[in-house]
Amino acid sequence: MKVINICVAGAGTMGSGIALCAAQNGFKVILFDLNSQVMEKAISSIEKNLSTLLEKNKITAEEKQTIFNSITFTSDIQDCKASLIIEAIVEKMAAKTDLFNQLALINSSETIFASNTSSLSVDDLQRNVPNPERVAGMHFFNPAQIMKLVEVVKAVNTSEQTISALVEVCKKLQKTPVVCKDAPGFIVNRVARHYYLEAMRMVEKGIATMESVDILMEASGFKMGPFKLMDLIGNDINLAVSQSLYDAFEQEPRFQPSELQIEKVRKGDLGKKTGKGFYDYHS
Ligand SMILES: NC(=O)c1ccc[n+]([C@@H]2O[C@H](COP(=O)([O-])OP(=O)(O)OC[C@H]3O[C@@H](n4cnc5c(N)ncnc54)[C@H](O)[C@@H]3O)[C@@H](O)[C@H]2O)c1
Repeated sequence: MKVINICVAGAGTMGSGIALCAAQNGFKVILFDLNSQVMEKAISSIEKNLSTLLEKNKITAEEKQTIFNSITFTSDIQDCKASLIIEAIVEKMAAKTDLFNQLALINSSETIFASNTSSLSVDDLQRNVPNPERVAGMHFFNPAQIMKLVEVVKAVNTSEQTISALVEVCKKLQKTPVVCKDAPGFIVNRVARHYYLEAMRMVEKGIATMESVDILMEASGFKMGPFKLMDLIGNDINLAVSQSLYDAFEQEPRFQPSELQIEKVRKGDLGKKTGKGFYDYHS
C-alpha cells in the first residue's frame, strides 16, 4: 500500500492545515470542501502561512509556488480520487459515514480512508463503509501543519498494512505517529478533557475568571490556557468531543459538558474561526 497522493476532505481549521502539511512534504493534494467561503479562507490561510515561511527564509519563492501549486482546491466530489483520503469534516458520524460511502464509489478498494475524528468511534465508522480493513483514524492536532503528534487509530477491523502505510505517511509528514486502539477520546482527548471541563466548572462556580485561569495555566508551563485553547479548537468541536465522551462513559459526571460552552455554541461564538468565542478576535 503506497500512498502517492492525498485527498483532504473538509477545508476548515484542521483540513487546511493537514493539506498544507502534506503539500509541504511533497505530496500532491486535493483539498475538498462544499462551502465556498471556507474554501476561500483556506486558500488565503495557506497562502499566508507560506508567505510567512518565505519571509523567514525557510522556503524560497520557487518552493512557495511549488507547494501552493501542488494543492488542487475543489468543491466537486468527483475530483476526490487519491490513494489516501483524510476526512476532516464536521464531527458527526452520519456525515462522515455518508462521505466515505460516496468516496468509496469513485475510489479503488485499496484507497485508505482515514478519519481525523477527535472522539467518534472508528469501529462504528468502519462498520458502515466498504472494505473496513482500509479504514482507520488519523488524529492530527491543531494547528496541523505545526503540531508533531498524530494518533493513528487501529479499529477492530483495520489491517496491519493500513496502519503501516499511515505510520509511513506520518513520517513523511515529519510527524510523530503513536498507534493506539479505538477508545473514547483515544489518548490525548480523554486525558485533556479535564483541562477544559474543570476550568469551565471553576468559572461557572465563580472560583476564578477565565482570564486568571488562562494566565495561571500558562505561567505554570502549559503553552495555552484552556479558554484560549478552546477558542483555537472551536467551541462546537470541543463540545462535540465532551458530549461523545460523556455518552461513551454512560453519563459519568466527570465528562459532563459545560453549560458555559453549550451557551457559546448556541450563540454561534465558536472561537477564532467566527471571530468570537470566550474572547473577542474582531479587533
Ligand atoms: N479543531 C480542532 O482543534 C480539531 C483537532 C483535531 C481533530 N479535529 C477533528 O477534525 C474534524 C474537523 O474539525 P475542524 O475543527 O477542522 O472543523 P471546521 O468546522 O473548522 O471544518 C469542517 C469543514 O468541513 C466541511 N464539511 C462539512 N461537511 C462536509 C462534507 N460532507 N464534505 C466536504 N466538506 C464538508 C465544512 O464546510 C467545514 O469547512 C472534526 O472531526 C474534529 O473533531 C478537530
